[in-house]
Amino acid sequence: MKLLTNIYQVGGPSLTHFFDATVTLLKGKDGWFLIDCGTPEGYEQVKENIRKAGVEPSQIKFILGTHGHYDHVGAAHLWKEEFGCRLFLHALDREQVEAGDSVKTSAALLYGTQSVPCLVDGLIAEGDAWEGEGFTVEALYTPGHTMGSVSFEVTAGDYRLLIAGDAVWGGFSEKIGSSEEAWRETLDKITSRHYDFYTFGHVNPQLIADADERLKEAKMAFGNYYNPWFKTFFETYRY
Ligand SMILES: [Fe+2]
Repeated sequence: MKLLTNIYQVGGPSLTHFFDATVTLLKGKDGWFLIDCGTPEGYEQVKENIRKAGVEPSQIKFILGTHGHYDHVGAAHLWKEEFGCRLFLHALDREQVEAGDSVKTSAALLYGTQSVPCLVDGLIAEGDAWEGEGFTVEALYTPGHTMGSVSFEVTAGDYRLLIAGDAVWGGFSEKIGSSEEAWRETLDKITSRHYDFYTFGHVNPQLIADADERLKEAKMAFGNYYNPWFKTFFETYRY
């Protein structure tokens, strides 16, 4: 599903396996890359969706992980084994992924399965940038859901897009590395910036417009992150 020129959503609960977080395919100046890659359960369908976008999975050079959870980077070891892709993550989520810590990666807690240990090839820090064909991507450090959570700001012409991972509308649990204090600061940080569109970790293929207002609502709804399924949120929230 094309989101913007050279940017596609190729994974997510309505596109691949229902375990999968949003997977975004982007055309970098030095080759194609992914932001998050979903779970092993959705791996084959993610590859199929990449082909539908006219790209061969073997063209994927690297994966930028928003954070070290199973639904976001659980399939990274498969991408490394089959295609030699490199995985990049923030330093504070590295250990749990490399150790295959199935509690901290949420694999056991939320998905009834185990994480496969996966080496991280490089680290992501605030301000790191990647040149795309017609856009730039910049990392924004957005801890709270986990302490190694990052979001990505995409600037494409006049458009400012935030790819937020689980930094908005994610679930809060100390077992999977959440911190309320850090998360509240992150929501202040995100809402102090300007975006035309945003997308996040568990969403249908879409760019959510009126982003500044919608992100303010996401901040106001922080209490629901403690139990994101408590309400029928599709009736209540406007994302
Ligand atoms: Fe997560």
